[in-house]
Amino acid sequence: MSELKKVKLGKRLSVIAALVGDDYDHIWDCCCDHGLLGLQLLGKSKAKHIHFVDIVSPLLIEIETKLKRFYQGEHHWHVHCLDVALLPLQPYKNEKQLIIIAGIGGLLLVKLLTTLLPLTKALNVEFILSPVHHHYQLRHFLNEKGCGLIDECIVAENGRFYEVIHIKPGSGLPISRVGDKMWDFSNVQHQTYLQQTISHYQRLTKNPNSDVSEMIKAYQDLTPPV
Ligand SMILES: C[S@@+](CC[C@H](N)C(=O)[O-])C[C@H]1O[C@@H](n2cnc3c(N)ncnc32)[C@H](O)[C@@H]1O
Repeated sequence: MSELKKVKLGKRLSVIAALVGDDYDHIWDCCCDHGLLGLQLLGKSKAKHIHFVDIVSPLLIEIETKLKRFYQGEHHWHVHCLDVALLPLQPYKNEKQLIIIAGIGGLLLVKLLTTLLPLTKALNVEFILSPVHHHYQLRHFLNEKGCGLIDECIVAENGRFYEVIHIKPGSGLPISRVGDKMWDFSNVQHQTYLQQTISHYQRLTKNPNSDVSEMIKAYQDLTPPV
């Protein structure tokens, strides 16, 4: 086994990798940074084609060097120095594609998806999304755009909480703004995450320019009776 196939992922990226099924033709590891997730998926032969996408050119040069070294002669990996909003999905319109975007701010993610989602119309595309912060706003946006839920979960890593949201544009269950099936209130970490989230929005009420009463109520409504 090569050095690369032993890539060890942190908990958050491991959970994302575990959600990835085996039936995709193309997987896009977007905002890939050093490409850890994509390398793991490539090592496990999770799709016919694995695409590494980031906007910072030196990162892609580093990844391409590794790929050439460890996967020379194999043609199912691709590197793209590209804004995620401009993913070239159309050439693969008859194939099943998974777009993974993790580790960027939720508001930036909404901005990227505003451009990207219309490009997925009539294509067979799913997304796995895991932003840093602003889950409520992202979920609200996804719902408004007619995306449906496939799966969702909460991940705790290094004292922080992340949501991982697997969706499909145009089909699936409605997406809750505060999450639904991901919550397990017998899990102490989930209770902590909910309390932290409510406290976060309660602190924001001190800012007269932000109306967060809707968020506070929605999260409070989740609180299980004691
Ligand atoms: C913190 S890393 C995330 C790495 C990995 N996805 C994760 O979840 O751990 C964020 C990456 O997003 C990239 N990025 C930010 N905006 C981007 C955009 N519009 N298009 C492509 N990459 C972008 C940055 O260059 C950086 O490498």
